Amino acid sequence: MIPNRVQHLGSHKLLQLLLPMNQILISDTAEVLVARLVDMPTLLGVAKALVGSARLSDVESSALSDVTTSRDSDLIDDVRAAINEGRDPLGDAYCAINSPAQRRDRGQTFTPDHVVAGMLAWVKRQRKTIARLVDPGAGSGRYTLAGLRAFPDAKAIAVEMDPLVAFILRANLAAAGFTKRAKVVVADFRSLTLPQIDGVTLWIGNPPYVRHHGIGAEWKDWYSKTLKRFGHEGSQLAGLHLHFFLKTLELSSKGDLGCYVTAAEWLDVKYGQALRQLLTNGLGGRDVFVVDPTVQVFGDAMVSAAITCFAPGSARSSLHFAEVSTEAQLRKLSSGNAIEIAAAKVEPKWSFLVKGGRAEKPAGFMELGEMFRVSRGQVTGLNRVWVEGADTPKLPSRFLIPAITDSTDITKTSKHVINDAQSLRRLICLPRDLSSLASLEKASVERFLDWARRLGAHETYTAKHRNPWWSVSTKEPAPVVMTYMGRRPPVFAMNKAGAQLINVAHGLYPLQQFSERQLQKLVAWLNENVTQEDGRVYAGGLTKFEPSEAMRILVPVELAS
Ligand SMILES: C[S@@+](CC[C@H](N)C(=O)[O-])C[C@H]1O[C@@H](n2cnc3c(N)ncnc32)[C@H](O)[C@@H]1O
Repeated sequence: MIPNRVQHLGSHKLLQLLLPMNQILISDTAEVLVARLVDMPTLLGVAKALVGSARLSDVESSALSDVTTSRDSDLIDDVRAAINEGRDPLGDAYCAINSPAQRRDRGQTFTPDHVVAGMLAWVKRQRKTIARLVDPGAGSGRYTLAGLRAFPDAKAIAVEMDPLVAFILRANLAAAGFTKRAKVVVADFRSLTLPQIDGVTLWIGNPPYVRHHGIGAEWKDWYSKTLKRFGHEGSQLAGLHLHFFLKTLELSSKGDLGCYVTAAEWLDVKYGQALRQLLTNGLGGRDVFVVDPTVQVFGDAMVSAAITCFAPGSARSSLHFAEVSTEAQLRKLSSGNAIEIAAAKVEPKWSFLVKGGRAEKPAGFMELGEMFRVSRGQVTGLNRVWVEGADTPKLPSRFLIPAITDSTDITKTSKHVINDAQSLRRLICLPRDLSSLASLEKASVERFLDWARRLGAHETYTAKHRNPWWSVSTKEPAPVVMTYMGRRPPVFAMNKAGAQLINVAHGLYPLQQFSERQLQKLVAWLNENVTQEDGRVYAGGLTKFEPSEAMRILVPVELAS
């Protein structure tokens, strides 16, 4: 809660405020200014005062119909001054008022200044005259404003789908005196049409991170068809940021430049293959910078970032990869190792290229993936429904299957063996066809399904892609299971109970015959030798092992024989 009195403060050039309730000292003028934009009506009222009588899109006009123009001239002046110092108090306040959860479905995280500066430094080094810059998913306009300052002869097109955010962007442009140099398009970037121009267009920004679950079937269809036109196959699992890259390719001309920051996962995952292909083919990849998660890029989201720089239509023989581990490096974005395009085309995991190529396997070791297939546990869609709990309506016991439903089922075992199925919780596995059930059983299953529906279990993404929606099926039990996320190395255990597994852990399925004794030795070795560094380490020491990373763990060959 922002205390009431903060709303009524006047001019703050260097203000120190002692809040008696909780003794917090706010000494930073930027934070105080953001705190004065206490709620959306205040924020939008100030934005309205800054925008004045400019023509708005219909969606903005209707979204703003109830907003009163602010008359707090101190606040308006302070906000205008901050914008002209290169800050973004309106964007910061928008993020403070709307929680990350509220902004997530539209992929709204605004980019910190050092990232924008680094990306523009890369563009400057290309020594091109930028005639137009396009900022797709422009948010409050951080790239647009910084770009217009960096390239005084350029015009900008800022595309933002959310009308309120677009209006904040308009206010920023107005306060900075850029209204005539920039056009705000309030629309989905994928539906944008643009006139061709003679000069260079710079495509720059932070495309929204929305996972495929949040993307409608029509846009998925658009994505596959458009990719096909460029000669590539696409995955339905691609996130919105990949759609933005593709749209950029569709709109760009030879000689343009591009620089986008996104989450780094596309470097390695299957759906990222389309982007990897585009960069080695048509989109003209130049540099990929992978930013360590300890360097803040996405504000509230702790993920590794990739800054991808490209020159559409250019054909170079190599692509450069660099790791960025400090803010100072990020502000510079100096190119890294050159990798032949031909080598990048055949490498399915580009994170190896960031490290300069795949390491030689040491003698006497093999990859765990040569002994086992490692798979995620089953996704139920809603564990609160599909894992039996105290309030689950009673069901026939044959539909209740012992399962590993919590990583502690693995970490708390004695001697790394899950022996006792009875101590585990139950996964609810109903038959697909309920018509053949005896009437008593059928009645209890239907009671359960009514309850599940009330909790929305039939409407989850997973349930909608399951036929019928209630058929959480049993799988072949994995003989070995492993935890994959934590502030410690993963824990491996033998699954002697033959328990089912949900996606709290991974299952290891042997690709060759192993005796029980061999499996025991292997599990003991893995528990003693695998370190956090074998996985992907995130800020705060959190480590994650995707199945592909687990399969790359090096294991002594003798354990397989
Ligand atoms: C990751 S934010 C980046 C904002 C801004 N460029 C920055 O870096 O600070 C992405 C923005 O894209 C907007 N957005 C989401 N889907 C969009 C779409 N399909 N077309 C245009 N904008 C979209 C969101 O509302 C959000 O403001």
